[in-house]
Amino acid sequence: MKTGFLFGCIQEAFHRGCALTSGAEPYPLRSLLRQEIEKLAPGRILEVGCGSGNYAFLGHNYLGVDPNPRYVAYCRRNRTGEFEQMSGEHLDLPDKTFDAILCLSVGHHLPDDSLLRVFREVKRVMTDEGVFFLADAIRPIARPRPIAMLLEWLDEGRWFRREEDYVALLSNEFAIEQKRKFTEAFYQMLVLFCRKKRRDVAG
Ligand SMILES: C[S@@+](CC[C@H](N)C(=O)[O-])C[C@H]1O[C@@H](n2cnc3c(N)ncnc32)[C@H](O)[C@@H]1O
Repeated sequence: MKTGFLFGCIQEAFHRGCALTSGAEPYPLRSLLRQEIEKLAPGRILEVGCGSGNYAFLGHNYLGVDPNPRYVAYCRRNRTGEFEQMSGEHLDLPDKTFDAILCLSVGHHLPDDSLLRVFREVKRVMTDEGVFFLADAIRPIARPRPIAMLLEWLDEGRWFRREEDYVALLSNEFAIEQKRKFTEAFYQMLVLFCRKKRRDVAG
């Protein structure tokens, strides 16, 4: 958590610095998700691996889950929404409950077999019309500066992937409806908008 906090502070400073010097939007992922979620007007939102609750602004009907009890305690004190300690691999939540599910920057913390379990759980708790938003930093690094290497070294996640790896891992459970890529600070971010495959939708 301490390393996570340090990492968060350095990354925040560089997000702002890069945005100031380039005139770009400092948090493209936040604005993109806000727009998409507003369009969908989902009934219930679930974030798997909510961390310190950076995306808990997305609605009052939001549940954030994270296996780290310190993040959950922090979010309960500081964020709006509900927060529960839970791993994405075993969601103690009923089937077909959430209309929008987010999994942001969690993928690079998990090896393939764990991530596949998360995807299966996400599909189970998502409504048939629901949307699953997966976002993560992908290889190659957009701006491979020494500071980007330092940030990566501080990051607790060790499973950075390429776009095609995410596409392959998702392909069994989801149909990818849209794909966006942009540079956030030093990294190439991939955002995938996924739906249940037609064969898995009842009726
Ligand atoms: C880089 S943080 C991202 C936090 C938040 N989604 C964000 O974008 O600000 C990665 C998070 O994944 C969580 N995580 C790790 N393993 C997980 C698992 N099996 N299920 C759900 N979350 C997990 C970590 O506890 C951490 O909070």
